[in-house]
Amino acid sequence: MNIGVLASGGDGAGMNMFLYTLVKSLKKHNFTLFKFGYKGLIEDLVCDFDLPYLKSKCLDGGVCIKTSRCPEFTTKQGQIKALETLKKHNIDVLVVMGGNGSLKGAKSIASKGVKIIFVPCSIDNDVSPSKYAIGFDTACDACVKYIKNVQDTMLSFDRLCIYEVMGRDYDAIAQKVGEKVDADYIYTDKSNINDCVKYLQNTQKNAPIVILQENLVNIEDLANDISQKLNREVKFCVIGYFQRGGTPTVNECKFAKQFADVCAKQIKDGLTDDLIFIKYDCGSVLTMAIN
Ligand code: ADP
Ligand code: F6P
Repeated sequence: MNIGVLASGGDGAGMNMFLYTLVKSLKKHNFTLFKFGYKGLIEDLVCDFDLPYLKSKCLDGGVCIKTSRCPEFTTKQGQIKALETLKKHNIDVLVVMGGNGSLKGAKSIASKGVKIIFVPCSIDNDVSPSKYAIGFDTACDACVKYIKNVQDTMLSFDRLCIYEVMGRDYDAIAQKVGEKVDADYIYTDKSNINDCVKYLQNTQKNAPIVILQENLVNIEDLANDISQKLNREVKFCVIGYFQRGGTPTVNECKFAKQFADVCAKQIKDGLTDDLIFIKYDCGSVLTMAIN
């Protein structure tokens, strides 16, 4: 069988582990690794990687076949070019690693007759209906490590600090990290400054922690507001891309391998539906057809 693979949208640790495990499990099949996601389909960009190379990358963060955000793929012309490339390579099934935006893209080409297996990958963990997306555990772990280091010095001064974490439209990282570091306040789209200040006034901690989900308020303005209202010094840190890279955690590797095993089995068993979604739910990795 000719299997195409691409990575689209935000990357996450564990994607290389997924790719290596998949290619290793399906050694007898032919792989075309498209470079830069949907852009690679449009422009016919492929990677010439063998199994030993993929193995050498499996504990690296990022994604070795590269990803992109590709506005052209949302257009009819872009999708026609992508379909031509898939035809040129005689692709029988395309494995798409991506987040919820990439899933929309996968749906639109599946509706044109391309067989697709979609694998949820997003540090935001926002690819419904899967309860887990590759990259989330490592991103949370990186945030916790970062905060621990900064808190060591915050504690020496009894300083309050706000930490901004990623999560474009979804607060999963903020909630998980907030819980792990025992944050005094988790600032999400349901929050407001008065509520935040009320919690901080009541905290017993010398160096209180606020976790802020990105894209909601300006962190510097928030720090100044809280500082004025509490009459104390407030520091802030934007964790940023630090949380998107790094060695996948043990749990991440476990998820990535399980997702790859289920994906490989689905390919071996044959595909009757156009779009198969791999999801984690109730402790298991399963497949479901999306229409
Ligand atoms: P993620 O997959 O991580 O959520 P994006 O939202 O940026 O990342 O989506 C990745 C890519 O998926 C986009 O750059 C685009 O190529 C494709 N995509 C997103 N939304 C659509 C859509 N409605 N139709 C077709 N393709 C889409
Ligand atoms: O989708 C994952 C994510 O890391 C979001 O949390 C963040 O808002 C976005 O990607 C940033 O994307 P980019 O690196 O393309 O600016």
